[in-house]
Amino acid sequence: MALKLSVVGCGYLGATHAACMSSLGFEVIGVDTDPEKIAMLSKGELPFYEPGLDTLLASEIKTGRLTFTTDFSAVADADVHFICVGTPQSKDGLAADLTYVKSAVQGIAPHLKKGSLVVGKSTVPVGTAQGLREQLAQSAPQADLAWNPEFLREGFAVEDTLTPNRLVVGVANDRAEEILKEVYKPIIDLGTPWIRADLPTSELVKVAANSFLATKISFINAMAEVCEAAGGDVTVLAKAIGYDPRIGNRFLQAGIGFGGGCLPKDIRAFMARAEELGAKQALEFLREIDAINLRARQRVIDVVRAELTDDLTSYKIAVLGAAFKPDSDDVRDSPALDIAAQLQAAGASVVVHDPKAIENARKRFPKLGFAANVQECVKDSDLILHLTEWREYRELDPNALAALVKKKIVIDGRNALDRDKWRSAGWKFHALGRSD
Ligand code: UGA
Repeated sequence: MALKLSVVGCGYLGATHAACMSSLGFEVIGVDTDPEKIAMLSKGELPFYEPGLDTLLASEIKTGRLTFTTDFSAVADADVHFICVGTPQSKDGLAADLTYVKSAVQGIAPHLKKGSLVVGKSTVPVGTAQGLREQLAQSAPQADLAWNPEFLREGFAVEDTLTPNRLVVGVANDRAEEILKEVYKPIIDLGTPWIRADLPTSELVKVAANSFLATKISFINAMAEVCEAAGGDVTVLAKAIGYDPRIGNRFLQAGIGFGGGCLPKDIRAFMARAEELGAKQALEFLREIDAINLRARQRVIDVVRAELTDDLTSYKIAVLGAAFKPDSDDVRDSPALDIAAQLQAAGASVVVHDPKAIENARKRFPKLGFAANVQECVKDSDLILHLTEWREYRELDPNALAALVKKKIVIDGRNALDRDKWRSAGWKFHALGRSD
């Protein structure tokens, strides 16, 4: 008999996982405590923007295999339960807040049938899975627990779930591995590498991967600082070092740095956990990674002040981009929005445009100005800041925009615009890490 699955927590990760598992042919029940989210998902509507997931969700709902509910007892029929709730940074420190993970496991424990497997996908501090497994042995001894970290990127969530570059499972016994192999058979059959690990290693794989990615970005942003000081060009430098296959050219895009709901909080939680484990020194470098990243935001503000004046009160600044990266409406810890808010706090009149993230940005910073299109955003502005590299910004015609603005100054915070094109249209063009 085919396995039945439950997905607990239907945010970004959970909604994606539920729809993708349904598309593999499983019967899937998604559970979340938020009735509004569940109402939308049940109608096949996605509460956030993710390319391709909207159509997948709608078609899976139509098959009848995929359903959503707020009632935890509905998981009773399922054999495998994926925990996909968030683990945000805690309000009072660097550590991850595990409230949702704990309450998700407690919420399903009374309903777990004999032989079922709880599978954590959330990013957690190392040691969490072992602790939860021991608790479950008390509250639901008929069930077991495994960990299966998720590596999906926003903007590529469906692709990364259905054709991941590896599957990592943290298990305490062969049976748990066999169950997970049965779930992921169609993906394994594509030739996807399968890595069996113990519970702590599987948790560490996830935070190690995100720490490495954050380090790569901060490395190139540190090089950008040096290039600015030395008269170099970080985009040429990145291209040149990227040809070395040991280095690789991905994640070497210098600019205003990383944000989002994962990289910043994951490196902080990793540092906090290492300190608890007595291994503080091993991750001390991540503090510097975080500092370089936050400094990039400040460097853009410094260029703005150098171009206008220290007192920004009489200037209008047009900000292109609010999402933490393109193809997403997510503004969690968005460098773009942080810079916009800081400039406004410094007295500038700031108007923000984003193709998808305006609604979320407005909720976060209701006092910022927002424009429905680029033309309205840049109208009469003294300076344009390009902060999220949406394709439509790369395709803008600098000649047409020149007629709308007060001053033709643009700062490319993502090193994604065509400098020559802007300059030949008469713009003063700055980019982070490019000195001329
Ligand atoms: C990240 C990881 O890439 C995923 O593998 C992981 O599964 C996910 O976190 C998670 O933990 O759930 P995501 O947050 O969607 O995915 O975003 P990334 O594509 O990693 O980008 C993160 C930030 O780095 C963005 O703000 C982006 O603009 C910035 N970035 C990226 C750069 O500044 N330069 C680069 O070269 C690349």
